[in-house]
Amino acid sequence: MVLGSFSSFLRALALGSTAVALQPILTQETSLDLWLQTEATASRQAILDNIGADGQWVEGASAGVVIASPSKSDPDYFYTWTRDSGLVMKTLVDLFKEGDRSLLPTIEEYVSSQARIQGIPNPSGDLSSGGLGEPKLNANETAFTGAWGRPQRDGPALRATAMIAFGQWLLDHGHASMAADLVWPVVRNDLSYVAQYWNQSGFDLWEEVPGSSFFTIAVSHRALVEGSTFAKNVGSSCPYCDSQAPQVRCYLQSFWTGSYVLANFGSGRSGKDVNTLLGSIHTFDPQAKCDDATFQPCSARALANHKVVTDSFRSIYAINSDRAEHQAVAVGRYPEDRYYNGNPWFLATLAAAEQLYDALYQWDHIGSLTITDVSLPFFKPLYSSASVGTYASSTTVYKDIVEAVESYADEYVQIVQQYAASNGSMAEQYSKTDGTQTSARDLTWSYAALLTVHSRRNAVAPAPWGQSAATSIPSTCSPTFATGTYRSVVITSWPTIRGYPGAPDSPCQTPTTVSVTFDVTAPTVYGEHVKIVGSISQLGGWNPRKAVALSADRYTMDSPLWTGTIQLPAGQSFEYKFIRVQNGVVTWESDPNRKYTVPVACGVKSSVQNDVWR
Ligand SMILES: *[C@@H]1O[C@H](CO)[C@@H](O)[C@H](O)[C@H]1NC(C)=O
Ligand SMILES: *[C@@H]1O[C@H](CO)[C@@H](O)[C@H](O)[C@H]1NC(C)=O
Ligand SMILES: *[C@@H]1O[C@H](CO)[C@@H](O)[C@H](O)[C@H]1NC(C)=O
Repeated sequence: MVLGSFSSFLRALALGSTAVALQPILTQETSLDLWLQTEATASRQAILDNIGADGQWVEGASAGVVIASPSKSDPDYFYTWTRDSGLVMKTLVDLFKEGDRSLLPTIEEYVSSQARIQGIPNPSGDLSSGGLGEPKLNANETAFTGAWGRPQRDGPALRATAMIAFGQWLLDHGHASMAADLVWPVVRNDLSYVAQYWNQSGFDLWEEVPGSSFFTIAVSHRALVEGSTFAKNVGSSCPYCDSQAPQVRCYLQSFWTGSYVLANFGSGRSGKDVNTLLGSIHTFDPQAKCDDATFQPCSARALANHKVVTDSFRSIYAINSDRAEHQAVAVGRYPEDRYYNGNPWFLATLAAAEQLYDALYQWDHIGSLTITDVSLPFFKPLYSSASVGTYASSTTVYKDIVEAVESYADEYVQIVQQYAASNGSMAEQYSKTDGTQTSARDLTWSYAALLTVHSRRNAVAPAPWGQSAATSIPSTCSPTFATGTYRSVVITSWPTIRGYPGAPDSPCQTPTTVSVTFDVTAPTVYGEHVKIVGSISQLGGWNPRKAVALSADRYTMDSPLWTGTIQLPAGQSFEYKFIRVQNGVVTWESDPNRKYTVPVACGVKSSVQNDVWR
């Protein structure tokens, strides 16, 4: 078990019977689990290797600056893109919030660096005249002055989303003044940009098409909605967010063609583009219904679009030629792509998986799944008897469909597993003819995409952004804008507050992981096993097949105790339940879910939770 951690070993055990406990059978699912766990560790490290000032692959990059790839020629990606950095940092902030506290200095340095970068005059303008739309800067925080596809308007929105996620954590942990004084002013500049420029054309996320892009509009909408809430939470307001968000939502509707989502207006292409899947996953809200208006991952529109976009790559890549219609394929950016001869990308293939894991999360949360005329073509190849209707989660049809979608999603990840390097490295692309990696090596975004897929596959969702309160659509869409507030921000240092994790003068170290022992009193009959399952990956993401088996080593007639010790990130909050398994039949404890927060405190390395079966 060199590959996995102790918990993955336990999970492997949970899948086999006790008789084969010491040589767990590695089913395809288990080996994907193990690979993902190793790949997630490698990906996290590779991201840090690509961030200045200490990243080992990016010497010369300033502190907190995220470099797209260490590649300096063919192609030269040794720059910092506002879009890529925002997406990558959002992933790190979410890991941090899940308990990976050692990421704190990197996140703080990112916020400080973005405050500096916002103030650098560049070919798109300066702070208050459009400069925030500049797509990329040099690694040393100077303007890039060469010719480029500029402006690109998704950057400020994505940066705001990453910083709001961190700012909200500060608020939730009693550091309100840091959120209000350090994070909000930087966020406010970006929200001001989005509110002022969302209705002007710009280049798409692939830096090729001048026009209006679904991805840009979708992430702009999200930023304005959550920006408004964050503003209120820090005791301020964002009237320009409030006035523009409904209009952005209104415009977003025009990208729906009736059978798929048009990626760009003004491209002269088919408009089938993974841009649209990325738009859906980066605006996924775990509390949302399958809302068509915001193209939620489980919405009929987004699922129909998933099929149309992924199908567009079936016949054009040789490595997809042996894959049937119900099987996953290698996915690229858009079928007309000629860059590096047009190949599948790791982040695109991972996006196809992530949308499906998001949808699975949403159906589970809603408690049912609906097939409409629009989404039927998506379901048909996966489940041939699919028909229009709503299926409650208690029905067999629901379970069969969910299982089919789960395996289909896993197949996309298996394609990535097949073409990732054995040391974990992922470039930007892999060849459409033989799968060898090509274009920029160690692409930071590829790694962030792997980490979000890993979390979503384990049913670990990011925080909601307020989709459920952002559904009304104005009766008329108007070309509008609003002017916000631009003010340059200088963050000289991050205060070290008592109890603030990572404070250098802490009297003793706060461990990043804690050994949590779960003891549950549960009388069982012969052949019955007790397991623990919960909302986090370490507890199988509510999937009973991935539950962690407890041990009966301390079980006696007087004290029928089942017990297990699991390493969990300090500070992590989650829900869980115990289950009984006998001959593969699962019996759940009664509601409600149990809740637990792993202690995070100086010197606390272990804790014990005592429960009685319900
Ligand atoms: C910053 O980086 C650019 C591009 O590599 C280089 O041309 C410039 O001289 C550097 N500026 C400073 C102040 O180091
Ligand atoms: C601006 O908004 C109007 C109304 O939604 C829309 O018709 C127009 O295409 C938009 N233009 C751009 C460049 O976003
Ligand atoms: C894997 O090996 C390649 C070739 O030696 C190297 O360029 C890459 O950085 C390595 N990847 C990781 C994640 O260490």
